[in-house]
Amino acid sequence: MEPQAGWLVFLVLSLVPLCLPIPLRDFLLEQENVRRIGGNLVLGKWEEQVNEYLISLKEKEVAKARKTGYFPPSMHFFRAKGFIDQSAVFSILKRMPKGAVLHLHDYAILSVDWLVHNATYLPDCYICFTRVGTIQFRFSKPHPPSPVPPGCSEWVLLKTYRKQLHNISEFDNSLLKNLTLVTDNPELTYPTQAFIWRRFENVFSTASGLISYAPVFKAYFYQGLLELYEDNVQYVEMRAIFPPVYELDGTQYNESWSVATYQEVARQFVKDHPDFIGAKIIFTTHRKKNVTEIKKALKKAIDLRAMFPDTLAGFDLVGYEDEGHSLWDLKDALTIPYSKGVNLPYFFHAGETDWQGTSVDINVLDALLFNTSRIGHGFALTKHLVAKKLSLKMDVPIELCPISNQVLLLVSDLRNHPAAQLMAEGHPMVVSSDDPSIFGSKGVSYDFYEVFMGIGGMRADLRTLKQLALNSLKYSSLPPKEKAQAKQVWQKKWDQFIADLCNAFPREL
Ligand SMILES: *[C@@H]1O[C@H](CO)[C@@H](O)[C@H](O)[C@H]1NC(C)=O
Ligand SMILES: *[C@@H]1O[C@H](CO)[C@@H](O)[C@H](O)[C@H]1NC(C)=O
Ligand SMILES: *[C@@H]1O[C@H](CO)[C@@H](O)[C@H](O)[C@H]1NC(C)=O
Ligand SMILES: *[C@@H]1O[C@H](CO)[C@@H](O)[C@H](O)[C@H]1NC(C)=O
Ligand SMILES: *[C@@H]1O[C@H](CO)[C@@H](O)[C@H](O)[C@H]1NC(C)=O
Ligand SMILES: *[C@@H]1O[C@H](CO)[C@@H](O)[C@H](O)[C@H]1NC(C)=O
Ligand SMILES: [Zn+2]
Repeated sequence: MEPQAGWLVFLVLSLVPLCLPIPLRDFLLEQENVRRIGGNLVLGKWEEQVNEYLISLKEKEVAKARKTGYFPPSMHFFRAKGFIDQSAVFSILKRMPKGAVLHLHDYAILSVDWLVHNATYLPDCYICFTRVGTIQFRFSKPHPPSPVPPGCSEWVLLKTYRKQLHNISEFDNSLLKNLTLVTDNPELTYPTQAFIWRRFENVFSTASGLISYAPVFKAYFYQGLLELYEDNVQYVEMRAIFPPVYELDGTQYNESWSVATYQEVARQFVKDHPDFIGAKIIFTTHRKKNVTEIKKALKKAIDLRAMFPDTLAGFDLVGYEDEGHSLWDLKDALTIPYSKGVNLPYFFHAGETDWQGTSVDINVLDALLFNTSRIGHGFALTKHLVAKKLSLKMDVPIELCPISNQVLLLVSDLRNHPAAQLMAEGHPMVVSSDDPSIFGSKGVSYDFYEVFMGIGGMRADLRTLKQLALNSLKYSSLPPKEKAQAKQVWQKKWDQFIADLCNAFPREL
């Protein structure tokens, strides 16, 4: 027990029998409030006004939800989204400058509409169909060489295929469905975590045929940054798994081409949008790979970081954690950079599981022992007190991705998300969206809504939101000077956001 807590207990025990300790009660409630994330921030005069307005909107929305029974954070996101779209709180969250999104995956950053309505309409796009209802794409000229992907029909030119259809928009809708997990009845469609993870990886593989085509690859990243920018995000760190990018004639590029291209596109984007700060890439590989393969991947990541020090931020492992190797299984590989004196920051996904006391949830501790810079998800962190304390001491944040956790079946009612406890303790954290396109989401505002309304509870206010935005820059891998500049860019936008709301809300109230 901490000395302060002991003193408090003493105070409570000594006063309770005497009378109703109202001042003490206020004092204790205040003690809880300052511990919360953002609890130490002092708001300015205008911010206080906006906060009051925001809280009144929030209270109204919650009161209505309690009456109707439809409270978005307690519903599955596929059903909640329509309600969130109509929320006044959400419209403010969309306008809010949110800083950085630090946990995103390369082929899932942009709404799939663009892939279907733009990418599949480019010339020389072929499709093949499997018996189990999945599809694959390939751009090629001439006709793609055999063999077709396992289990697939012959390649059919999409342009020809669309010509003989009666209803093209119906077909395009089926393509959209192949590129997301969205369905009317998720509980029936996805009975288990293992099941939905198979479908999830399948969606990636379907999208990959489109996105890995060099012209689409560049346009997709640019459009993805644009969608985030329009959601008032200022900076991005994206995990990339580097499927080989290809050209029409079958030429394939290696990873250094991909990193160079990401760097080029991001720089072009910043040129076109000077109030955007930029993007970095985190090299990832699949956690099912064995030690030998992980060693190879690490070597690649080290080489790429030497070639692109401003763009390649570090290394991570991806895939269904319950079925992959634990970090400890891979220790002989993961200790190599440190033992060689090479600086390769880690950004491990860890503890994205419901299990406790297994090698999987122990990943949260091992990630910290391997000096991870952030913990992806850290869903299991609250079950590991020593790891939790260590992450606080090392100032390593969790990357909280609530919609991802719900869709991938870790938790259903987001009020029960374990991060509620971490928010109450002011634990270091940032909010991210993981794979927004695949979850039928967009940008990061929907995740902010879930955090603000559901996980953070009624006490989450403008200070919570401001702290989360500040955290996203603080825990980014920008070097100190660029971080300070990024914060200035963000602060200017924040002040404008506050001023705009102050001007608008007397009318809105
Ligand atoms: C996508 O396609 C639509 C319809 O053809 C077009 O209006 C839009 O400009 C395209 N968007 C991009 C970014 O190319
Ligand atoms: C085509 O299918 C869509 C969606 O299923 C439907 O709304 C539309 O009415 C159909 N159009 C025609 C011409 O049948
Ligand atoms: C994927 O597209 C195919 C071809 O149109 C369709 O038959 C199948 O139902 C789609 N899959 C999903 C999950 O909608
Ligand atoms: C990638 O390919 C380029 C040329 O296409 C080559 O110069 C470079 O060495 C390759 N990089 C790696 C890491 O293999
Ligand atoms: C690791 O995996 C690769 C590729 O699957 C395989 O060729 C190799 O034999 C494996 N090595 C060990 C030590 O299992
Ligand atoms: C992590 O950092 C600490 C302190 O710098 C060092 O002692 C330890 O060996 C590092 N561990 C790894 C696996 O890099
Ligand atoms: Zn992830």
